[in-house]
Amino acid sequence: MRYTEGRGWHDAEIKQYEPFLISPAATVFHYAQEVFEGLKAYHCADGSVNLFRPTANFARMSASAKRLAMPEYDEAFANKALKELVSIERGWIPESEGTSLYLRPNYIGVDPYVGVRAAREYIFYIICGPVGAYYAHGLAPTKILIEKVYTRSSPGGMGFAKTGGNYAASLIAGEEAHQKGCDQVLWLDAQQRKFVEEVGSMNIMFVIDGVLVTPPLNGTILPGITRDSVLTIAKDKGYKVEERPVSTDEIIETAKSGAMTEAFGTGTAAVVSPVGEFVFGGETITVAGGKMGKMAMEFYRILTDIQYGRAADSFGWIEKV
Ligand SMILES: Cc1ncc(COP(=O)(O)O)c(C=O)c1O
Repeated sequence: MRYTEGRGWHDAEIKQYEPFLISPAATVFHYAQEVFEGLKAYHCADGSVNLFRPTANFARMSASAKRLAMPEYDEAFANKALKELVSIERGWIPESEGTSLYLRPNYIGVDPYVGVRAAREYIFYIICGPVGAYYAHGLAPTKILIEKVYTRSSPGGMGFAKTGGNYAASLIAGEEAHQKGCDQVLWLDAQQRKFVEEVGSMNIMFVIDGVLVTPPLNGTILPGITRDSVLTIAKDKGYKVEERPVSTDEIIETAKSGAMTEAFGTGTAAVVSPVGEFVFGGETITVAGGKMGKMAMEFYRILTDIQYGRAADSFGWIEKV
């Protein structure tokens, strides 16, 4: 669907996937005025199709759009359009264990204007494609580089928004981490380089002295929907949960002493991804013998059982297509 200043949103349609024409001067190419989302449609054994918390994705997309000075859009309408699209494309939803149809709403500024200001014309579109099981070879713990040089976002910036600029800023660190044999980076706060923020495409959680600990949503990290879901499940189970700053000193000390029994990332792609090792400066620190922990395993099972319709959804997260 398109937005034109003075006219509002118009010309919503679902059509075959194909390239579309926009001007080389479109604002998105110069000033990166764009936001996006990522979520999945899951095939259930009874033949129905589940979406996991799409309302939350569209609410987050609105928050991202607001930060990038983009016009409001009708979240309920976008959600309805998403369901209509998935319904049309349901033949593309793979059925084997752990697979899904990935859904990517995008919202970009397109008017041809080479001058710094908010766009006056926009396109909102949704694409989709089948994705394989993230853990095709089992739940392998990852090696994470704690990033000392580059930062991803800072207070007052746009770290909480799901916008391309945040990812562009992160790519070089990801490349360098791969060269060092690491899977992803763990970002530190931009001011003190002391407190951990999030991983490349996941939020980070620790189990320290039996307490589930995760950095707070202070505007510099993405408010992950999986993060929120895991915290909700943990509280429901009666686990002690703390959203508080976690320093690198605390990570190193507690991983070494054994007080840290688990570290894992949370996100739509992997659901839960255990950390086996942290690399910090010249040091490699193993977490809990490099194995997947009990809590991570439990959250993974509960979440995937809800997503694939194998368990009752007592939290009201599932929306049927
Ligand atoms: C930077 C970043 N943090 C966290 C997440 C996890 O968010 P969610 O659980 O909503 O997928 C993602 C993935 O979307 C991400 O790209």
